[in-house]
Amino acid sequence: MAGITFAVIIGIINLLLVLFQVSTGKRWLKVNFIWHRRLGVVLLVTVVIHAILADLGL
Ligand code: HEM
Repeated sequence: MAGITFAVIIGIINLLLVLFQVSTGKRWLKVNFIWHRRLGVVLLVTVVIHAILADLGL
């Protein structure tokens, strides 16, 4: 598909994860706080993967 790269897909996932992190961190979204801590670390990893894929042009 034109313009849809792996970096774009992971970038959209990252955007959703950031929205989840702020919503749960602010407790607007009430989930077990363990998910805020776990997905915060997942987000760190996916952000690095996103940057590497984007740099490689994938
Ligand atoms: C990019 C990742 C993350 C984002 C964007 C994020 C965002 C936030 C936000 C917006 C708050 C509310 C702060 C406030 O109202 O003053 C918060 C609170 C908090 N976050 Fe995160 N967070 C992330 C990752 C993590 C991780 C990895 C941990 C721990 C392993 C963590 C632990 C906490 C704790 C303990 C609080 C305080 C909750 C409370 O008692 O009110 N966060 N976070």
